[in-house]
Amino acid sequence: MSFCDLALDCVTKLQPYVPGKPIEELERELGIKDIVKLASNENPLGPSDKVLAAIAEASRDVTRYPDGNGFTLKVALAEKYKLDTNQVTLGNGSNDVLELIARAFVSPDEEVMFSQYAFAVYPLVTQAIGAKAVIAPARDYGHDLQAMSALMSEKTKLIFIANPNNPTGTHLPAQQIEAFIGQVPQQTLVVLDEAYVEYGEQDFNSIELLGKYSNLIITRTFSKAYGLAGLRVGYALSHPEVADLLNRIRQPFNVNSLALAAATVALNDDLYIAKTKQLNDAGMAQLIAGFEQLGLGYIPSKGNFITVDVKRNGEEVFAELLQQGVIVRPVTNYGLPKHIRVSIGLETENQRFLDALGQIYD
Ligand SMILES: Cc1ncc(COP(=O)(O)O)c(C=O)c1O
Repeated sequence: MSFCDLALDCVTKLQPYVPGKPIEELERELGIKDIVKLASNENPLGPSDKVLAAIAEASRDVTRYPDGNGFTLKVALAEKYKLDTNQVTLGNGSNDVLELIARAFVSPDEEVMFSQYAFAVYPLVTQAIGAKAVIAPARDYGHDLQAMSALMSEKTKLIFIANPNNPTGTHLPAQQIEAFIGQVPQQTLVVLDEAYVEYGEQDFNSIELLGKYSNLIITRTFSKAYGLAGLRVGYALSHPEVADLLNRIRQPFNVNSLALAAATVALNDDLYIAKTKQLNDAGMAQLIAGFEQLGLGYIPSKGNFITVDVKRNGEEVFAELLQQGVIVRPVTNYGLPKHIRVSIGLETENQRFLDALGQIYD
């Protein structure tokens, strides 16, 4: 007997999420140190001293369960965004929240829509609940909202839009997003996934749209600009009824106490975010200059990563970079077999990557 015969059909067909290769794994495989990891869009600055102090303080209490309602963090988020605490749902990373949304609202005979090249977790959560994924063709590697509108049906229950998108880094302007949400029927939920919002131009306060469109859910994370990927904390901002439903199905203690303490301190550390953005802008310019020197095209990005056209098999380039101790991300699984995605690192890390890439094109 195979356990696959016992499992749900939608589960046996799932292709598991492939994370960036951990540094320790490559160290074990190659027996080398000094590895540069630019594969998971993490913040190269590392946690701030304030965050480390908050974690140390909270660690004294790890014998206790965390606050299952995340009261202090929710108050801080509500204050920052001028919302009510009952509009916040906390998650074990924003991936957790994306899954909660699909589980709470979509049944197997309904459809979930997202774009070609959209973030890999959208097809995963759709398939895990046995619903149908409707994939709209991209335009210039970004979401084509007109194509999405054209594919909508009465079965469309949920639409995922990552802005900026991962792995392409493409970004949609505020007016386009609002015009799109404005014509989506009330019974279709729109998730605006803003995992990388802090890196872009702050020309648009998407949170103001929550007051206008009750079917809008905004998701954000502490994993990227806030530098807390390892702690796993993200959140959704929504209509209170939506938040109530999401909170009913989440695990009672889905965000741990160290994560709650760290995120509460990190949230209002504007200086850290400003430094992060400055480093990212400089690193992005450094990488683009390097690509241009090598004659490689790239997809202009508003995130903390950039996807470059390597003009040959991306998996091979990835493997050759690994041999030189540099971990990036192949994106064949996204239908981009001749691209690789590289996260923006410290200046020295970016240079290591560019030098290693240069070796390949020598
Ligand atoms: C577009 C997008 N959304 C959500 C996430 C989820 O991040 P986390 O679960 O760490 O909050 C990621 C992570 O890579 C992402 O790229």
